Amino acid sequence: MRHFLDIADIAAADLKAILADAAAMKAARAGLPKGTLDSDPALPGRALAMIFEKSSTRTRVSFDMAIRQLGGSSLVLNAADMQLGRGESIPDTAKVLSRFVDAVMIRANAHEDVTEFAHFASVPVINGLTDRSHPCQIVADLLTLQEHFGDLGGLQLAWVGDGNNVAASFIHAAAKLGFELTLGCPDGYAPFEDDLAYATNSGAKVELTTDPRAAVAGADVVIADTFVSMGDTDADKRLGDLAPYSVTQSLMEMAKPKAVFLHCLPAHRGEEVSAAVIDGPRSLVFDEAENRLHGQKAILKWCFAG
Ligand code: CP
Ligand code: NVA
Repeated sequence: MRHFLDIADIAAADLKAILADAAAMKAARAGLPKGTLDSDPALPGRALAMIFEKSSTRTRVSFDMAIRQLGGSSLVLNAADMQLGRGESIPDTAKVLSRFVDAVMIRANAHEDVTEFAHFASVPVINGLTDRSHPCQIVADLLTLQEHFGDLGGLQLAWVGDGNNVAASFIHAAAKLGFELTLGCPDGYAPFEDDLAYATNSGAKVELTTDPRAAVAGADVVIADTFVSMGDTDADKRLGDLAPYSVTQSLMEMAKPKAVFLHCLPAHRGEEVSAAVIDGPRSLVFDEAENRLHGQKAILKWCFAG
């Protein structure tokens, strides 16, 4: 049995296989109505439960459509409506759900809650975002870059803004796939120490600067995310501290002439990115959002292949 909890836990060959499978499944159903099964549905009869402690549009809908296209079904559970929200333990919840469904995806506030759930579950558990990482998002992002550039290995990526959960999963991916990643984050918003240590120990080409222009200089890909993540309580301070890290046209001009822009969405135009950039010709954000679907399908298949 395989859990999908962090890119850091996945072998590089498996990550590449997930990306290749996602691309193949996407191509194979081009033009089909979205609600139809794949021509060769890989997971007939499998039931996926999704537990949400926080809001979601893309993760919820893409996992739901993913399991349907693969021949399975899903249940969407709001954690606050479950006994979990009244104090039932994570181990008991994990053991009970493992008797009802074939896999569980969890979006949680605390990363340790997802790892604890996985420890006690007897079915695959997928991390649908925590305070510490967002591995499914990075599969979609890498798929988008693979479609655009072909090979990922020689790319130079620039992350600008808060060194948050999504940034952490990019750091893990840089270690696995060998692309260069420079993070431009102000003091107080650097990535988590554990993830920077992981990058150092794994020999990843990851650099950190407080200068957004230096981060973007010569980049093939510029990436932004919200300045205020779900669960952050200091919105006003964050918006002030991070304002100089907004991805504007003038910042994009520091990157390569053919550089592209990624953002996991939801976006806040005029905060972490200007409308001209996210709605402009270099933005791949809607391909990126669509690729959540194809990525989730490959992640689900990888989990069940264990
Ligand atoms: N990018 C992403 O995870 O979006 P949702 O919060 O809408 O799921
Ligand atoms: N960093 C953001 C990502 C949302 C998909 C958050 O955690 O809210």
